[in-house]
Amino acid sequence: MLVNAKYILEKAKQENYAIAHFNINNLEWTKFILEECEACKQPVILGVSEGAIRYMGGYHVVSDMVKALDKDLNITIPVVLHLDHGSSFDSCKKAALAGFTSVMIDASSYSLEENIAITKRVVEMAKIYNVTVEAEVGSVGGQEDGVANELAYAKVEDCITFVQKTGIDFLAPALGSVHGLYKGEPKLDFTRMQEIKEKTNLPLVLHGGTGIPDNMIMKSISCGICKVNINTELQIAFSHAVREGLKKDDSVYDPRKIMKMGEESIKNKIKEKLILLSNRKEHN
Ligand code: 13P
Repeated sequence: MLVNAKYILEKAKQENYAIAHFNINNLEWTKFILEECEACKQPVILGVSEGAIRYMGGYHVVSDMVKALDKDLNITIPVVLHLDHGSSFDSCKKAALAGFTSVMIDASSYSLEENIAITKRVVEMAKIYNVTVEAEVGSVGGQEDGVANELAYAKVEDCITFVQKTGIDFLAPALGSVHGLYKGEPKLDFTRMQEIKEKTNLPLVLHGGTGIPDNMIMKSISCGICKVNINTELQIAFSHAVREGLKKDDSVYDPRKIMKMGEESIKNKIKEKLILLSNRKEHN
């Protein structure tokens, strides 16, 4: 069932666990993620970047594909279809009109005032469609250097002002995580995370989930993180398995067989993350 992220993230906040946000890239990934989350009986947030949306053909393709898989695979867990790092009001509106249930507006490269103004407009629009809104304060680093810029960490006062003025549903404060692989250990600011949680009382989001050690993920959850975004780690698990499979048998050419080579590996990684984030030892 497609839902917005409000209820599942509020529940996660109250019960001290986190929901997995996995990025999708094509039909096979979406199917593998839905099947594994259903098997583990865990809600999931399917994150789709603008690049992935362009790759798959457009907002409607993605939305209709997710809804059709949800139906034909008889998925019973709550599924959120979420625009990841929406770069403008227009992209968030396109997502909402196409049937996405949640959006992230990422205006973090603008000044705080501009970020607030753009995000506020998105929140007003999103309300009409019952779509939840995530936004970023500070700036999560990129793949280039694998180290977060300390000047880009979110400030507590900025987060409080931002939340009060925009009315967002959940907040991604940049606190030392980066997208892609890290150089050395991530330097997450847990003290600030805890303070932002207490002062905003919103579910917090941890971007750049790949490569953060399990103990830091657990600590983040205890400091208010309710949504953990994971992309690169699934890409690595998938491509490694496909590469190995093709090396073993270079006579394969059926694309279905090639995609299937990555299935077990990606599903194992999803299960591992769900167990970690849901704060439980084992699933039945
Ligand atoms: P990783 O690719 O580092 O897992 O980050 C994913 C992410 O934050 C998507 O928004």
